Amino acid sequence: MSERKDDRLWGGRFDKAPDELFDAFQNSFAFDCRFLPYEIAVDRAWARALQRVGILTETEVKQTLAALDKIAERAERDPLWLADSAAEDVHHFIEKALVEELGPIGWKLHTGRSRNELVATDFRLFIIDAAAETQEALSALIHSLLLQAKANLKTPMAGMTHMQHAQPILLSHFLMAHAQALTRDITRLQNAAASADACPMGSGALAGCAFAIDRDAIARDLGFSRMTPNSLDAVSDRDFLFALSGIATHLSRLAEDFVLFASQEFSYVILPDEYSTGSSLMPQKKNPDSWELLRGKTGRITAALFALFTTLKGLPTSYQRDLQEDKEALFAAHDQIEDMLGVATGAITGTRFREDRLRAAANNPALFATDAADYLVHRGVPFRQAHDLIGKVLKESERQGKPWTQLSLEDVQKISPLFEKDFLEGPSVEDVIANKAVPGGTATESVRAAIAQLEQKLAQWEKQT
Ligand code: ARG
Repeated sequence: MSERKDDRLWGGRFDKAPDELFDAFQNSFAFDCRFLPYEIAVDRAWARALQRVGILTETEVKQTLAALDKIAERAERDPLWLADSAAEDVHHFIEKALVEELGPIGWKLHTGRSRNELVATDFRLFIIDAAAETQEALSALIHSLLLQAKANLKTPMAGMTHMQHAQPILLSHFLMAHAQALTRDITRLQNAAASADACPMGSGALAGCAFAIDRDAIARDLGFSRMTPNSLDAVSDRDFLFALSGIATHLSRLAEDFVLFASQEFSYVILPDEYSTGSSLMPQKKNPDSWELLRGKTGRITAALFALFTTLKGLPTSYQRDLQEDKEALFAAHDQIEDMLGVATGAITGTRFREDRLRAAANNPALFATDAADYLVHRGVPFRQAHDLIGKVLKESERQGKPWTQLSLEDVQKISPLFEKDFLEGPSVEDVIANKAVPGGTATESVRAAIAQLEQKLAQWEKQT
């Protein structure tokens, strides 16, 4: 044991120790120690694999597994042990601890393997767990949107495009739009987890393993459903942040809607006190900080994705030390998304919608103009002409300063003799909503069906986990 100059994982061909600043610069233990439980699981599987190819005896494996148990237990109970460690990274930490426990037997475990595949394996195991956690948090948020959608099936609102009132829709339909976007995020997460679900162990540093280890058995031991198909690809690949930045972008859009809705101009919502803050100066203020911060923190997730992209751009195939930069971005984005989803769920659940304000905005005949054009279409007028005629009706209503439904029959018949008395009765906001009865439309029945479908989908996913 003592023929080694120090306990580094490398160094035989070096005359000098690393420069102090550089040594701290390259150290990753402060953040990759989060991989410790995964690394220990991989070590256990690797010890058993080495026994199968005769590198470790049964006794050595038993000793190694027992030592790993002890390390896991101490790491859990004694955080200072980790904080004070001089280890270069999590891989080094465990080897040092193993050697302290077992002497030179501890040096056998790294036979035939590389930190490059270890870190890639830990990364994938982390992603699989992280994706499951995030899926659960996303489901909770979708459930809170579904609850509000069910509670607001009778509330019309002014649907907008270009931030201009366009056509009436149900508030439930609006809430379900967000629920659908977040459901796609679950699918993206599941895809990310499925592509992470392949075990790199046996890839070595880049070329594969020179010992005839059973890669499939290691993969199964670790709960992976398969092994990675190419050793070079296995040590280069880093995905997942895509899925998180998709979620954050959707949360930011949801946030922007609620910041606007909480403004005095809209006054569509009363935000829960628990998710709002006041002003140190202006006593009347109730600010939508939860939503503003959700919108703001999205920047960090996007930044994490871009940071990793920028790192990856220009990297050649295979392991490069640049890849060590993946972890801080990933951990920060994951932790941030969990908090963001929790806050969004609470804020949605506690929001009260002001039906009076929403209905008042929706109940404006100008928003029924498309349906008014359809009135002519039903009488055989080509749509473009109908559009034009209704445009003229609206111009006249603007000129007279009253809604088009209050024009006289004479006024509108001057524009087209096809208008009859029933035209001026106009449709009600309920009619206009009810006639969008296509699947995916805003009619109450369509929205009810969409709610039922989504509930079923979530229940199915929840059963699987
Ligand atoms: N700490 C490295 C990482 O996070 C893994 C170690 C690989 N080091 C090496 N010199 N090949 O990517």
